[in-house]
Amino acid sequence: MDSLLIKGGVPLHGEVNISGAKNAVLPIMAATLLTSEPCVIRRVPNLSDVRFMGQILNWLGAQVRFEGEVVHVRAKKIKGAGDYDLIRKMRGSICIMGPLLGRLRKARVSLPGGCVIGARPINLHLAGLEQLGAQIQQAHGYIEAVAPQGLRGTTIRFERITVTGTEDLIMAAVLARGETVIENAAREPEVADLADLLVKMGAQIEGAGTATIRIQGVARLHGAEHAIIADRIEAGTFLVAAAITGGDLTVTGCVPEHNGALITKLQAAGAEVTEVDRSTLRVRSEGGLRSVDVSTAEYPGFATDLQAQYMALMTQAEGIAIITETIFENRFMHAQELARMGANIRLEGNQAIVAGRKELTGAGVIASDLRASASLVLAALVARGETVIDRVYHIDRGYEKIEGKLAGVGAQIRRLD
Ligand code: EPU
Repeated sequence: MDSLLIKGGVPLHGEVNISGAKNAVLPIMAATLLTSEPCVIRRVPNLSDVRFMGQILNWLGAQVRFEGEVVHVRAKKIKGAGDYDLIRKMRGSICIMGPLLGRLRKARVSLPGGCVIGARPINLHLAGLEQLGAQIQQAHGYIEAVAPQGLRGTTIRFERITVTGTEDLIMAAVLARGETVIENAAREPEVADLADLLVKMGAQIEGAGTATIRIQGVARLHGAEHAIIADRIEAGTFLVAAAITGGDLTVTGCVPEHNGALITKLQAAGAEVTEVDRSTLRVRSEGGLRSVDVSTAEYPGFATDLQAQYMALMTQAEGIAIITETIFENRFMHAQELARMGANIRLEGNQAIVAGRKELTGAGVIASDLRASASLVLAALVARGETVIDRVYHIDRGYEKIEGKLAGVGAQIRRLD
């Protein structure tokens, strides 16, 4: 297993370019199952989760070819059932249910397993698919769904906002008969990006990116070409990296408005963030940060996927910051590891109380999940001495060339085999 060795204390300077969004590309790859014609997806990040999704599509019968940042998929003939236990390992793959049901009227997938950040049930996906007319059974660790007459449009109101649930239902509804209305839908930019691709494929969708999405079912979809949006979580992680190291970073190829909630907090904490142009942000900090409370929320609120990184930042801010996690019930695994580096963090239910500023010192730490590992990298960048982060396969799931990008702006970082 690889580890990362980081020698802290170097302010980051220079320019870093953001990759395509992991959480947009996964449902978009699933969407290619909706047509027998070729699809071309551009700006695809080279991540283990993306290769994993490629394998799932492949096992379903699709031809998948990666060519640098481009992936070509042709799902000419696919099967709705298969031995793809992989879903247990990557939750994002649950969104193949919608497209399989829409196109083949049947789907059989293994139930996703638990996850370190919380239980993460899929009851809302299943309830929505049932409302569209699917009959669903669970047995032997599998979900079997059939819709012998095809799916039919209806109004579905999510009792709680779910990102992949919204994406799954959109993909099920595009080939359903009649109109589907999804209320209390997730407004994340990744949902809107998926809808953009589907519209290029011939789907009729209105309102993606808002809380109410209307879909008129069509008889068939065709092939399309699409470039993935920038990864706002990767961009946000680099914004924090500049602030925590007291550096000056220009983050290119991003969408500034997608990081609005984080930018507001960084500015309140004393970092200088400027929008250079519509795809470039510049962050400067000379230290002297102040603590600012944060509460995670669905988009456009403060992303849960940036909570761990923000916690690392607050260890370096003067005062007490209360960080409230409202999306997942167990997403504070990083707190303990940050404490091993010298942070003062107390956990109380869904709140972390971070007392700063504390000098961090390098230590051997273990990455527990993707965003927790990012927070350890950030802490290591500012810590005195060397930090070794184990189990970096977690970070490789969601950050493309992390050590290359950080080294490019001055970090002393290297991968150990
Ligand atoms: N929920 C249910 N039932 C469901 C679905 C969700 O109770 O059927 C609950 C979840 O347990 C959670 C909340 O609703 O408490 C929100 O979960 P959501 O469904 O929105 O999460 P997700 O779609 O499984 C995506 C991202 C996550 C990100 C969350 C929240 C992908 C592939 N994953 O997960 O990304 O944290 O939305 O924004 O898009 C990451 O990238 O590190 C990551 C975990």
